[in-house]
Amino acid sequence: MSEGGSSAKVRLRGLTKCFTVRGRRVDALARIDLDIRAGEFLCIVGPSGCGKTTLLRILAGLERQTAGTIDILRENSSHGPLNSMVFQEQSIFPWLNVRDNVAFGLKAQGKGRMERYRMVEPYIRKVGLSGFEDALPHQLSGGMKQRVSIARAFATDPEMLLMDEPFAALDEQTKLILQAELLRIWDEMRKTVVYVTHSIDEAIVLADRILVMSARPGRIKEMLDIQQVFGRPREVEKVKSSAQYGELFGRVWGQLRDEVRAARNEG
Ligand SMILES: Nc1ncnc2c1ncn2[C@@H]1O[C@H](COP(=O)(O)OP(=O)(O)OP(=O)(O)O)[C@@H](O)[C@H]1O
Ligand SMILES: [Mg+2]
Repeated sequence: MSEGGSSAKVRLRGLTKCFTVRGRRVDALARIDLDIRAGEFLCIVGPSGCGKTTLLRILAGLERQTAGTIDILRENSSHGPLNSMVFQEQSIFPWLNVRDNVAFGLKAQGKGRMERYRMVEPYIRKVGLSGFEDALPHQLSGGMKQRVSIARAFATDPEMLLMDEPFAALDEQTKLILQAELLRIWDEMRKTVVYVTHSIDEAIVLADRILVMSARPGRIKEMLDIQQVFGRPREVEKVKSSAQYGELFGRVWGQLRDEVRAARNEG
């Protein structure tokens, strides 16, 4: 489907964000034009400080753009919230057990206790935490805590999931397992996902399309179609051992390298 096609879930036009820090202007995003398709898994990579988190926060309605427009198509049939965000830092509540953490968004929606517990059970199962429902966060590993965050994000049945480097702090093996789990859950639900990552590898494994951003102020440098190469459903191991993987890695890094250098020289 072409950019600007009728199935755009999100349409950004000329999106610009400037911050003022102690009288000094910081241009975080500059005139971003982007269509995010309904049901796609979009990964965003870009050098540190190029505005990735800012873009997610604007999509989530947590921050307002300085200029430009953002249109989000709402589903008529949806009962859930428009979006749900998974942050890089652990954002689960230390005083709530796994079940209550996952059910937190539903409580905010006014669902009763028994209904909440019934609704979250499949999501706890999907992320492999059955048997840990009553555990408190300090009794869980880092990977398990991120699973709680993911179950919580899916459980409210949002139209769109916004994920900011959710696995960045995890070890390689845990990351591999969680990527595969995320793909499996996403295949079932087919939500629109916007996923920020520093890892080219992770972007190739997960994405339908990869958006490469320039150094600050963040612009769109390149859009790569991964879906065309690997299709769905996708197996992490197969993708990584394929010949196309190395080629794609080279292409993304080729785009990113100069931007990372530019960001370093500036900083
Ligand atoms: N609330 C804020 N006030 C002032 N400046 C901000 C604010 N939030 C972000 N910035 C600035 O905007 C720029 C983009 O920040 P952002 O956090 O979006 O980058 P990022 O691409 O997510 O970086 P990283 O990869 O390191 O997480 C940075 O220069 C940052 O200092
Ligand atoms: Mg960030």
